[in-house]
Amino acid sequence: MNILHISDLHFGPRHWEGNNKLLLEKLNSYNADIVINTGDSTTDSLECEFRSASNFLNSINCTRRFSIIGNHDKRNLRSQDLFHEFIDDAIIYPLDPQKCTKKNIFLDPSISKVNNHFTDINFIHTLTLNGETTLIVGIDTNEMYSDNGCIDDEMLRTLSEHINQATYDKIFLMCHHSPLETDNDPLYNSYRLQSFISKHEIEHVFCGHTHKLSLKTSTDHYQQHSFTQYVSGSLSAANHSEDTNMFLFYENWAEEGMKIHLVRIFVEGEQLIFKEELITF
Ligand SMILES: [Fe+2]
Repeated sequence: MNILHISDLHFGPRHWEGNNKLLLEKLNSYNADIVINTGDSTTDSLECEFRSASNFLNSINCTRRFSIIGNHDKRNLRSQDLFHEFIDDAIIYPLDPQKCTKKNIFLDPSISKVNNHFTDINFIHTLTLNGETTLIVGIDTNEMYSDNGCIDDEMLRTLSEHINQATYDKIFLMCHHSPLETDNDPLYNSYRLQSFISKHEIEHVFCGHTHKLSLKTSTDHYQQHSFTQYVSGSLSAANHSEDTNMFLFYENWAEEGMKIHLVRIFVEGEQLIFKEELITF
C-alpha cells in the first residue's frame, strides 16, 4: 500500500505562486492507493476557496481521499456547511450534546441561519485494501475563530463508542494539530488526544498545521503503547522564508522495505523544482 500525505493547501490569500497543474502532475505520478490531506485546505474558509480546494483534490487520480478540517477552514459561520458541501459530508453527532464544552461547537439556529448548527467535523471511514480493514478516524482539533487546537472530551467519548462497535485491523488517525508538537498555536489539551491514542492502541497519527516536517515515535511506558506521528509541511502555502513546501509519500506502507519519500518543492518562475530525500524507517 502506498500513501500520499499532503497538508495545508491554503487556497485563498495565503496560496503560493506555484503552478498547480505541474504540482498535480507530480502528485499523480506516484499512483497512490490512499491520499491523506491533513487540513487547512483554505485560508479564510470562503466558498471560493473551498471550491478551488475541492477542484484540486478531485484532480488527484485516487478515489480513496481523506481530508480533515483545519483551523483556517473554520473561520466563519458557514465553515461547516462549506466543508460538508465541498470536502467531506460525514458527520458524527455527540452522544450527549449537553456535555460538550468546546466553544461554539453548537451555533444558535435562530441567529446563525446556516444549515448545520453543529460545527465539529469528525468522521470514521472504513477502508478495505488487500484484505485488511483500516478505520480512518478524523478528529476535529479546531475551535471556531481560533488558531489554537482544542479537543472536546464528549466527542472523543462518542468516537470511542463508534470504534468499539467496529471491526477492523488497524486505525489511522488524522488530526490537524499534532499531539506532540508545540508552536504558537498548539493543541492545548493534547493529553486528551494522547489518552485516546493509547486507549485504542492507535499506532499511526497524521497531522499538519505547523508547516514543518516532523516524524516522531512516542512511547508511553506506563500504558505500554507507542505511536508514530507524521507531520507534513505545507503543500502549497506562501510560506515564511524558513519553511519549504513539501509532501510525503509512504512507499510499501508497514511492509518490510517501507520508504518515506520527502519531496520538497521550490518555485522557480513557471517551473517547479522537486528535491527528493529518502527516509528509511
Ligand atoms: Fe493550521
